Amino acid sequence: KRVAVLISGRGSNMSALIGAAMDPSFPGEIVAVLSNKPDAGGLETAARYGIPAKAVSHRDHETRESHEAALIRMLDEFRPDIVCLAGYMRLLTRRFVEHYKGRMINIHPSLLPLFPGLHTHERALQAGMRVHGCTVHFVTEDMDEGPIIAQAAIAIEPGDTPDRLSDRLLRAEHRLYPHALRLVLDGTVRMEDGKAVFAADG
Ligand code: GRF
Repeated sequence: KRVAVLISGRGSNMSALIGAAMDPSFPGEIVAVLSNKPDAGGLETAARYGIPAKAVSHRDHETRESHEAALIRMLDEFRPDIVCLAGYMRLLTRRFVEHYKGRMINIHPSLLPLFPGLHTHERALQAGMRVHGCTVHFVTEDMDEGPIIAQAAIAIEPGDTPDRLSDRLLRAEHRLYPHALRLVLDGTVRMEDGKAVFAADG
């Protein structure tokens, strides 16, 4: 199956997906990486792997709608079966979400439904949580909501700062995202009526 990745920054999760897909037993290949930011570090990384890497800058468009229309045009040239958001920092419109319904997934650095949005590590510490984690979910219209595909938890340790916690969590993200993508690609989980349905659930 064909997988496209959308990024806005350094793309470490993208790199984890590229690395996983290099294994011949992985049920998909990364066919394109697109960014809304031309200077996203991840674009260079992807290009080094020989993966088509392009920017569709939101600054070249007056409206969110026209930027997304351009993004859809570019993405669909690569005929993706699945679109992975990996640190893609733009809100998506209903049209975009509908276009890739059931085929678009995202990684979020918290144990959803706790802490949607930004600054998740600070907020987990502030709340006195003793665990933290990351979630891969199908993308629906509401930001950081949508049926959960997989989660990983890590312990919060005494003396943790937001930076230390986010570094440790990032390593868990890099393991979780390829695992979750594999579940979607091989049909172990799919989205149906706004819910995640796992093969074992019938
Ligand atoms: C990750 O923490 C991811 O969970 C969040 O944005 C960050 C992206 O980092 N959505 P990277 O670009 O994958 O390194």
